[in-house]
Amino acid sequence: KKLVVVGKILVNEAINVNVKRMVIDAPQIADLAQPGQFVHVKKMDSVNFLRRPFSIADVNKDEGTITLIYRIVGKGTAEYSELKVGEQFNILGPIGNGFELKSGRPLLIGGGVGIAPLIYLARKLKDEKPILLIGGKNKDEVFWKDYLEEFADKIYITTDDGSVGFKGFTIQLLPQILAENKIEHIYTCGPNIMMEGVAKLAHEQDIDCQVSLEKRMACGIGVCLGCTFEGKLTKKRRKVCTEGPVFPSKEVF
Ligand code: FES
Repeated sequence: KKLVVVGKILVNEAINVNVKRMVIDAPQIADLAQPGQFVHVKKMDSVNFLRRPFSIADVNKDEGTITLIYRIVGKGTAEYSELKVGEQFNILGPIGNGFELKSGRPLLIGGGVGIAPLIYLARKLKDEKPILLIGGKNKDEVFWKDYLEEFADKIYITTDDGSVGFKGFTIQLLPQILAENKIEHIYTCGPNIMMEGVAKLAHEQDIDCQVSLEKRMACGIGVCLGCTFEGKLTKKRRKVCTEGPVFPSKEVF
């Protein structure tokens, strides 16, 4: 079920260089949203008619809000970054199939802005004592810890330059984490190369794994076919926008 609603911006603040956090009043969407789903938003008076997808970073059902954490990468996102509190959006969502929540010790692995959907996921999995593994280029890029701490049993951090946590990539630290903890389910979102490495290790060790694909989406409604890939298990063309973004890792890698 998805809706088209008008949402109002309550917060649109910078939380890092080029990264902003937007809280939107949209109770009906907050009610339906699952971790890993996204919304398509459009400025009410936008000249750019393409709706822009944002993954849902967090949800507060009591307050009826959804949170988006997004990186300013070009003209499109820059336009959103300038929006003021009180401005309104046309929101289509929640869209897509999110993470399937399973019981058993979870490990959530995220890289860069792919960490965003893991916040709501960690919130929902809190009782399963999630372990988080997050990576970024340097210490400025791992600010996510502040948003995850509350729900995580443990957080491992990696940075490319070693300015905080383990020096190297998430995938390099992963074998050690799997040796130290009995992990039953892996949930991952981030650069493809990272997810591929995670999936390979999960397959080797026979650990259930779900991946959230960040394929560029244009239409977002299953029409343009710009987001498809060949499913490894099903041998069918899969559409990331309508069937994903989350898939079992064995379908993708
Ligand atoms: Fe158009 Fe998926 S984005 S079909």
